[in-house]
Amino acid sequence: MERQLPKHIGIIMDGNGRWAKKRGLKRWDGHKEGANVFRKICSYACDIGIKSITFYAFSTENWRRPPEEVAAIMELFREYLGEAEDRENENIRKGMQMHFIGRRDDMPEDIVSLMETAEENSKDASRIKVNIAINYGGRLEIVEAVRKIAQKVKDGEIQPEDITEDDISANLYTAGQDDPDLIIRPSGEYRLSNFLLWQSAYSEFWFSDILWPDFTTDDLDRAIDDYNNRSRRFGGV
Ligand code: FPP
Repeated sequence: MERQLPKHIGIIMDGNGRWAKKRGLKRWDGHKEGANVFRKICSYACDIGIKSITFYAFSTENWRRPPEEVAAIMELFREYLGEAEDRENENIRKGMQMHFIGRRDDMPEDIVSLMETAEENSKDASRIKVNIAINYGGRLEIVEAVRKIAQKVKDGEIQPEDITEDDISANLYTAGQDDPDLIIRPSGEYRLSNFLLWQSAYSEFWFSDILWPDFTTDDLDRAIDDYNNRSRRFGGV
């Protein structure tokens, strides 16, 4: 039987710091390698026909890291987004539509502007939707959705008793997208860490001890194969 591809995969890119430490390198060397692996996995997901993929790159909690590490991660975003500024970018030609999820208000202005350009330049690409979660927190995302809905109630546009799950979904950063079928977390941690809290209600999880910079396309295939052996019942029998 041909394997079923998950329509939407979420990936928590974890273990960069430990990967660097094991090699006597700086933590940001791990992030740099992590960013290269992100590029490879993104491209491979597109090649095999995944329709949507979401990478957790920077959480609302990650600001607590040492300033040099935060600055190094921001530089990696600048570097990547700088490439995406080019309309003839290879990723766009490949069919990757970029979308950034997370709170933009607290991000450096130049990065927000690069994000907007990347989204605009890739908006017609239609092979795969690539979401990158930057300054993202699942709880904050739900709070922001609730605020928008509360405003509509205040303005008399809807009644509280008419609010549905679809209304919450429609006000998240991922509005209009399918929920993730599969969430991958490498590096031996078994938690969601505030990633896609609402959207992951029925996701399958795949954990592994591999550190993100060591993650390969074979590992992605393994995760997809394991996903194929799961029986998803969505609360039914
Ligand atoms: C978690 O590993 C990783 C991060 C907080 C940063 C992830 C960022 C990247 C991979 C760069 C992404 C770049 C682009 C262009 C999207 P960790 O540092 O917590 O690892 P540890 O648990 O081993 O310390």
